[in-house]
Amino acid sequence: MKNLKKAIELIYNYVDNYDPRTVEFSQRRQICFEKNFPLLFCPGPVRVSDAVKMSMLHPDLGHREEEFSTILKSILENAKIPFGVANNNNYEIVTIIGGSGSAANESIISSFKEGTKILIPTNGIFGEALVKTAIVHKLDVKQIDFGWGNSIDLNVVEQKISSNIYEVLMMVHHETSTGQLNPIKEVAAICRLVEEKFNSKIFMCVDAVSSAGAESIDVEKFNISFCSTQSGKALLSDPGVGIICARSSDLDLIRERKYQSGSKYLALNNQAQIHREKVQTLNTPAIGLAIPLDIALKELKADGLELRKEIYLKYASKIRLAAKEMELKTVIDDEQCMSRVLTTFYYPQNINVDNFHNYIRNKNIIIYRGKGPIAGKAFQLANIGYLTFDHIDYLINSIKEALRFSHIP
Ligand SMILES: Cc1ncc(COP(=O)(O)O)c(C=O)c1O
Repeated sequence: MKNLKKAIELIYNYVDNYDPRTVEFSQRRQICFEKNFPLLFCPGPVRVSDAVKMSMLHPDLGHREEEFSTILKSILENAKIPFGVANNNNYEIVTIIGGSGSAANESIISSFKEGTKILIPTNGIFGEALVKTAIVHKLDVKQIDFGWGNSIDLNVVEQKISSNIYEVLMMVHHETSTGQLNPIKEVAAICRLVEEKFNSKIFMCVDAVSSAGAESIDVEKFNISFCSTQSGKALLSDPGVGIICARSSDLDLIRERKYQSGSKYLALNNQAQIHREKVQTLNTPAIGLAIPLDIALKELKADGLELRKEIYLKYASKIRLAAKEMELKTVIDDEQCMSRVLTTFYYPQNINVDNFHNYIRNKNIIIYRGKGPIAGKAFQLANIGYLTFDHIDYLINSIKEALRFSHIP
């Protein structure tokens, strides 16, 4: 008991005095039970830092007290960094502390009233999820399905959006089900041209759940109204906090147009209002998720987005090069269209897929199987989180061994 007390004191002390600027990216995960924790090579949850993990053992806190508002204020500021709008007053952060990425997306979608015409280009499972959510909220949905792994054809999007009947366009930035990075900047530019031509308003909305913190996003430059993410992917905290970066004038516009219809709990403006007025949340937040997120965002601030992008690209390139040597084919043909978050590879022929995955799991490594049309045909290797080159080498060697082990002669 005495030892436990001492350990907790040490942990509080560590977290209280933690300054991420004094600890390099590669040194942030040194203490936390290295041997027993599985190595996560999935696109979230991810390996978090020691400080993030330890902060989950936080002191008791009242969520209506000053202490919580201080944490929330810091989150509301630093969560702008992955969206490219730090120190920018045209945008504000809305949180759902106790909601995943899907909650953030539903928060955006449910803020438009029934019958709103929404265009959703899709090329994977997460685009399809946006369609399903919009249908649940009784929006008038037009899906343009380009098929899994195919690029979004800008000419087709332009042709549809030029009809000037759509008030909202929503799409996924990084389609995690394949690893494809979609052209949000180019689509947003098309929306802006249509707005200018017809003097109309199009709310350009983006699901950046698995890209914010790993890829370039600049919501203001790109002309994005609302952009979502969650805490447990490239922001490198534990999952469970939905985050929306919202253009303040568009929040005001949906309030004026009385768009809010679908949800009281998730409605963007309800949450935004109490963030603005009191630096509070509408309901009892998951405090245990807010504290680690605050630390993870301070780590992101200390590193800067460019450094994170550089590290992830190096990891992804190393994995892709090794896979080429193993003659593994990728689901996305063009490397320019791949994210730096993950790569989806087809299994080679003559492989027992279950044996392959069992072997990898026995190496204490977590990877994902393909979903939907690539289920049983492909697997995914992600490379975000507090990983090192040694971890990447371990993954590559394990994949080589697993392929040998599961080969059917
Ligand atoms: C692009 C994208 N959108 C939405 C989601 C759903 O997020 P969550 O599982 O946090 O609800 C995911 C989850 O992986 C995702 O990758």
